[in-house]
Amino acid sequence: MSIRPYRLLYPLRTYLVTSGVYPGEYNVMTADWITVVSARPFYVAVSISPERYTYKLVKKYGELVVAVPGWELLEEVWEAGSLSGPAKLKKLKLTFERGVAVKSPVVKEAIANLECEVVDSKLYGDHELYISELVSPYYNPMAFNAEKIKPETKVILHVAGGRFMTNDSVIREL
Ligand SMILES: Cc1cc2nc3c(=O)[nH]c(=O)nc-3n(C[C@H](O)[C@H](O)[C@H](O)COP(=O)(O)O)c2cc1C
Repeated sequence: MSIRPYRLLYPLRTYLVTSGVYPGEYNVMTADWITVVSARPFYVAVSISPERYTYKLVKKYGELVVAVPGWELLEEVWEAGSLSGPAKLKKLKLTFERGVAVKSPVVKEAIANLECEVVDSKLYGDHELYISELVSPYYNPMAFNAEKIKPETKVILHVAGGRFMTNDSVIREL
């Protein structure tokens, strides 16, 4: 099979993951290999390659933040996923702030920030799966109502190979 098999599962939602300690030793990278594992307690699994600078920080501090970008952050998402190491922080037009419950920063421009503590991790092949427990959620009420994302809120869908789309229409209301 010539296609890389993971591409058969795309498009996937694209997120930003911050790590480390703010201010000081912190970083941000783009990730779409992220999935919900449990609702109560809320666990999210984040798959991070040991080649990433982010990997070293998550290993060291045991915390991360999953920041949910709206589609206006596409350029920043692309850069955070193309450049490695904290030098990129100066280039990115993102505002980092101290988290409420973790030392890793939140992204002010994101429509949601999920502050998490790593509760377990294991290397599977070329990525390590970090099972992370939500300890402080934040969302922008302009983007979400009580139960769900508003239809007009546009998120970033990665189609793979550097092609991005957004959620553009409601096809059915239940
Ligand atoms: C759309 C997109 C999604 C990505 N998803 C992941 C991912 O889920 N896991 C991962 O380890 N790297 C992923 N990457 C690659 C990292 O974001 C990239 O290697 C980044 O430069 C790492 O930054 P760092 O070394 O500063 O941590 C993705 C990149 C892009 C552009």
